[in-house]
Amino acid sequence: MVVLACVTVTTNERLSIGIMGLFMSRVSDPTCSILLLGDVMGRSGRRAIQKYLPDIRRERAPDLVVANGENAASGIGLTPNVVEELLRNGVDLITSGNHIWRYREIVPLLERNHRLLRPRNYPLSNPGRGFVVHETGSGLRIGVLNLLGRIFMDPVDCPFQSADECLRPLRLGRDVAALVVDFHAETTSEKMAMAHYLDGRVSAVLGTHTHVPTADHRVLPGGTAFQSDVGMTGCYQSIIGMSVATALPRFITRLPAKLEPEMAEGALCGTLVTISTRTGLCQTIEPVRRGPGISPAG
Ligand SMILES: [Fe+2]
Ligand SMILES: [Fe+2]
Repeated sequence: MVVLACVTVTTNERLSIGIMGLFMSRVSDPTCSILLLGDVMGRSGRRAIQKYLPDIRRERAPDLVVANGENAASGIGLTPNVVEELLRNGVDLITSGNHIWRYREIVPLLERNHRLLRPRNYPLSNPGRGFVVHETGSGLRIGVLNLLGRIFMDPVDCPFQSADECLRPLRLGRDVAALVVDFHAETTSEKMAMAHYLDGRVSAVLGTHTHVPTADHRVLPGGTAFQSDVGMTGCYQSIIGMSVATALPRFITRLPAKLEPEMAEGALCGTLVTISTRTGLCQTIEPVRRGPGISPAG
C-alpha cells in the first residue's frame, strides 16, 4: 500500500504513482519458491542431484524441491532405496509418471510415504496418491498434483477432470499458499491445454516426461506459470538418458534390444517458480540448469 502525501498531481503523475503502487504491492507480497527437477534418469541423474542441489538450495533457498523420479532407478521406475537416496539428498517430494509401476517393491511405499506421488488419474483404487498438501519447514501449505497425459500415452482417466476433483475444495492463497502441477505428458499441445485450463487456479503447470527442456517458460494471463517440459536431470550425451550404443540401433533396425541408461556425468535440469503466498499466483519462472551437455539457462 502506498500513501500519497501530495495534494495536486497531474494525470501523468497519477499514472506513474499508480504503476509504482502496483509495483510496490507486488514486490512487497510475501513469496515462496518451488523448484521442480525434471525426470531424474538413473545414476547420472541421482549424482547430479547430489552434486548440484546443495548449492542451489544455499543460493536460491527454495521452500520446496520436487523431483520427478519415474526413471531414477536404473533408468526406468523407482525403488525404496532410490526414494530414500533422493529424499536424503535434498528432494522434499517425488512425483512420477508412466514408469512408476515398474518395480513391485515400490507399492508399499506409495501407500505409506506421503512424499511419493503417482499420477492421480490412474484408477483411484490403485495404490498411493497423486495429490498432497505438503507443509514446508517454514510452515507453508503447498499442494502438489501429479497428472498423466493421454495423447500417445497409455489410456488413463481424464487429467482435466482429475484436476477439477482435487482443486474444487481448495482456494489458492487461502487454503494453500501455492499449487503446483507436474503434468507428465508426451505432447506440448496437451500440456498447453492443461495450463490454459488451470490458468488462475494453480500457481504452475510444469511438464515432464519428454526428457528435453523447452524454451516456452512464461506466466499466463491468469497468473499461472507454464513450461511444456522442464527437461531431464541426467546425462545429455545420450538418447533421452539411454546410452547411444543401445538406443540408436533400435531406430535403425527396428529390432528389439535392451536399453541401458547412460552412466556418464549428468546435468541437473529443472525450473524454479516464485509465487505470491497472498494470491498463490506466479511472479517469476526461471529454468535452472547445472552441469555438462545442456545449454545453461538464462
Ligand atoms: Fe521419464
Ligand atoms: Fe514418463
